[in-house]
Amino acid sequence: MAKKTMTLIDNRTGKEYEYPILEGTRGPAAVDMRSFYKESGIFSYDPGFTSTASCRSQITFINGEKGELRYRGIPIEELATGHSYLEVCHLLLEGELPTEDELTAFDLELRHRSFLPEGLVKLFEMMPDSAHPMSALSAGVTALSSFYYEHLKLESDADYREMAHRIIAKMPTLAAFAYRHSIGATYIYPDIDRSFTENFLYMLRAYPGGKMHRDPDGHRKIKPIEVAALDTIFTLHADHEQNASTTVVRSVASTGAHPYVAISSGIAALWGRAHGGANESVIEQLKMIGNVENVDKFIARAKDPNDPFRLMGFGHRVYKNFDPRARILKTLQDQLREELDLDSELMRIAQRIEEIALNDEYFIQRKLYPNIDFYSGIILTALGLPRSMFTPIFVIGRTVGWIAQWIEFRKDPEAKIARPRQLYVGK
Ligand code: ACO
Repeated sequence: MAKKTMTLIDNRTGKEYEYPILEGTRGPAAVDMRSFYKESGIFSYDPGFTSTASCRSQITFINGEKGELRYRGIPIEELATGHSYLEVCHLLLEGELPTEDELTAFDLELRHRSFLPEGLVKLFEMMPDSAHPMSALSAGVTALSSFYYEHLKLESDADYREMAHRIIAKMPTLAAFAYRHSIGATYIYPDIDRSFTENFLYMLRAYPGGKMHRDPDGHRKIKPIEVAALDTIFTLHADHEQNASTTVVRSVASTGAHPYVAISSGIAALWGRAHGGANESVIEQLKMIGNVENVDKFIARAKDPNDPFRLMGFGHRVYKNFDPRARILKTLQDQLREELDLDSELMRIAQRIEEIALNDEYFIQRKLYPNIDFYSGIILTALGLPRSMFTPIFVIGRTVGWIAQWIEFRKDPEAKIARPRQLYVGK
């Protein structure tokens, strides 16, 4: 039988170094190079970690070439169409989908934990009205660490669970309060008679006293199709293995800091336009393009190597065929378009960009496809959600993934403080 090792030869000296190859259950194997520097005095150079596995994980699997995504082994298509976001949260945290009783207990617990400590609400008052909800959200999550400081030391599984459920339950409330402060509106407290996802829409949209906006023909309720669409968006964002923000969360975890501070750092990392901030940028860009006739001009700019302009919502570090989440959202977008009778210039521009880019050599050669943010921005706009809340909505969905990864890291006997090395080229 062939040896499961890889030999590296330093061609300057002819010296050989042999390393074990670790097999995963799915996806590429990894060369275990932990002792490489100690043995050779050489670092490996991999900016952006394009070829580096930083951990063993059992949570999420991606095959970028096949456009495959699984949470705990279950394909995303099955989860997005057949299960609720709360079921997916249970799956990510516990490794199994919940039974009916487990789901009821989990749902009720999250409803009851959805309130914020009243002192924390004052934090929003200190922010200028113009504060982007992402900065208020990140600050709010950091502040939570002082209200629940005891989570610094987690001993039993029950402790881990309480910490995880608390942050998942409070994130929509923090996001909704951050938004209401940014528009100078009264805070709407959670309504425990509403589901996780409906409650979030309620806190964004309601008037004091639990009233909803009235149309001339009566009450305008939160439509079930809106709740279902947002629930699917949360599921599609729930985890994505070792992406930039999750890597930040794990790195902060590696120093022994409080879990909520690690999540807050993840929020900061997600905010950037190259990551979760792209959904907001997609809409800004579609507005800038203005109408369908201008699309060709902007496609030409995206292709021009001397122009820094990039098509927001296109391209992905891992998906080089298609983004399976984008496919699900494309179907959802078409369904919403029909059922809510939506049509807008933005949707027409988006459709034109998609048509051109999918048939253009530049995009085909570089394997650039619409990613999740391309469609989520369009769907959230269609649902009437404010643009500044697109990335906070990503945060709400991703919180469970970050927490599951944080817990996995803290329980991993091989985990070490994150401390990359460098190739020094200075004086
Ligand atoms: N528009 C035009 N050209 C692009 C785009 C784009 N959106 N994305 C990549 N390219 C080009 C690059 O210019 C480069 O071309 P070159 O080979 O001629 O130099 C080539 O494609 C490879 O690009 P890289 O930046 O090396 O690819 P990388 O994997 O490092 O980047 C990223 C991935 C950051 C997502 C990039 O595609 C991008 O900036 N996309 C736009 C922002 C976006 O939509 N982000 C959301 C990602 S999904 C998420 O985080 C949830």
